[in-house]
Amino acid sequence: MEAIEISPEVAERIRRARRAVFFTGAGVSRESGLATFRGDGGLWESRRPEELATPQAFARHPDTVWRWYAWRFHQAAAAEPNPAHLAIASFEGRFPSSLVVTQNVDGLHRRAGSQRILELHGTLVEATCHSCGRRRPMGEAVAQSADAPPRCPCGGLFRPAVVWFGEALPPAVLADAHEEAQRADLFVSIGTSGVVYPAAGLIEVAHRAGALLVEVNPEPTPFSSLAALRFAEPAGLAVPRLLETIERCRSQA
Ligand code: OAD
Repeated sequence: MEAIEISPEVAERIRRARRAVFFTGAGVSRESGLATFRGDGGLWESRRPEELATPQAFARHPDTVWRWYAWRFHQAAAAEPNPAHLAIASFEGRFPSSLVVTQNVDGLHRRAGSQRILELHGTLVEATCHSCGRRRPMGEAVAQSADAPPRCPCGGLFRPAVVWFGEALPPAVLADAHEEAQRADLFVSIGTSGVVYPAAGLIEVAHRAGALLVEVNPEPTPFSSLAALRFAEPAGLAVPRLLETIERCRSQA
């Protein structure tokens, strides 16, 4: 594996780091075959979020919204974690404190073996009743009804347990993510365009609180200039290289 050039000052900060946050977006799952939202071939290139990912869209066209998420659920279920997910998972337990904060709903971090995960935008692995909040596995709900959202015993409609535009992020999850960003020594932003708030604001929170910011993204983002280390490469290549570098810095007492 090719060694990465880093300054002695950055190496020292990595060596002393105790708390790492891996902040991920759709790009981390690109090499698992899942489309991103923005950019070439992105899900929002040919579709409008307000027609598929808002409570208003679900109220107007529940069947269309349900079918789209059923399709995404099947895509995610058929996908496998890639070397980036696996490297992040392997880091847990080898570092004093390491946590994944993800905007993704595909469940791939958990399937890769990560255990400390904050899912800011919910999960596609579960369905929830839009009226009473009852939850059940999405696979079971989709198997019951692939073309229209099944009904809950309360009479409400099941929907994916994701956060839609116009909805609040789960407050406890956001509060925990905020606190982790503030306490992080190392904040690694991977595969996110950094344009959707409040999630993207965590990068600023971590930077302002003094974390060393690392960015993994083939394309520049609004936060690239804040990064002390930047990997303009696909995550599956860059993340294992980054983690090897961190291990190397930390083994130099
Ligand atoms: P985006 O689609 O906005 O951005 C994906 C980022 O991944 C882009 O900056 C790409 O350059 C980068 N990328 C592409 N391939 C990559 C690879 N192999 N390795 C690393 N990076 C790669 O996705 P998010 O930032 O996750 O929200 O989008 C944020 C939110 O907007 C999503 O959670 C979703 C979406 O609308 C909701 O649905 C509420």
